[in-house]
Amino acid sequence: MKGIILAGGSATRLYPVTLAVSKQMLPVYDKPMIYYPLSTLMMAGIREVLIISTPIHLPAFQSLLGTGEDLGMKFEYKVQDKPVGLADAFRLGADFIGEDNVALILGDNMIYGSRIERVLRAASKLKEGGIIFGYKVADPTSYGVVEIDKDGTAISIEEKPENPKSNLAVPGIYFYDNNVIKIANEIKPSDRGELEITDVNKAYMEKGNLKVIPLGNGYAWFDTGSPDRLSDAADFVKAIELRQGVQIACLEEYAYRNKWISKEKILEHAEKYRKTEYGKYLKRIAEEEENLYDNIFESKLFQ
Ligand code: DAU
Repeated sequence: MKGIILAGGSATRLYPVTLAVSKQMLPVYDKPMIYYPLSTLMMAGIREVLIISTPIHLPAFQSLLGTGEDLGMKFEYKVQDKPVGLADAFRLGADFIGEDNVALILGDNMIYGSRIERVLRAASKLKEGGIIFGYKVADPTSYGVVEIDKDGTAISIEEKPENPKSNLAVPGIYFYDNNVIKIANEIKPSDRGELEITDVNKAYMEKGNLKVIPLGNGYAWFDTGSPDRLSDAADFVKAIELRQGVQIACLEEYAYRNKWISKEKILEHAEKYRKTEYGKYLKRIAEEEENLYDNIFESKLFQ
């Protein structure tokens, strides 16, 4: 499976902060925002990633993330000239996706939870159809909202409904089979003029082919589109990292755990970041006993 991170848009709700800087480059506590969705794809075991952003901001992502080689990954980049909608990712990414299945993650979405890796790995094994997530929120009116039957199949899905049929908001991470390219090419812009991801989901749902994984208690989901939400996400990351002495969204850690980079490589990264907690954490990881490490992350259960 391949992965796409959509990191464009105009982020007007964060003006003036985002007048000259990409939203997905802003810090969420101690890392650039894009690290969080990228680490989510890595947790799913996805090694080839396309990063889409605006003509102005794409070069900054290229200089931040490079070719991916340092992480044992492969990154490609694509410009989105105008923010015409989330489903545009599959049109722009058609060549990159090729014959594969694909996961899309929005560059401003963060998901955290002790079992999230297992859930993502399972979703990445998808054979056909689509898999999305459902997250209970107090007020779902500013999200995609999904209703499900007892088997977890979607029975209705609406974009930002005034009167939501459920309180399950749809986080910005989606797994699809290769038909998504065709579907994205067939949908028409919505009343607000966008190629809606919800219309892609509807096309799968109408064929009875859209599974929803509800993320219950024990998961945190943030989208960081407004100053308050951005600051909530940063507070959350800070609280966990300081209390537990861990790093959330540590890219080198996932690359190492996935066996995409060697111990030597992770130590090289640790040296580069030696003045930071991030660097110290990388060093600790490299020095941990392998067995201990596997136990901590329950990785044997994920196989
Ligand atoms: O956060 C989850 C929600 O994301 C879902 O529940 C909704 O169903 C989905 O439509 C989306 O809603 P938003 O209103 O949050 O989408 P927004 O327009 O803010 O775009 C999300 C991110 O994608 C944002 O970081 C900017 C980027 N983007 C957006 C568009 C429309 C692009 O890179 N290109 C685009 O064309």
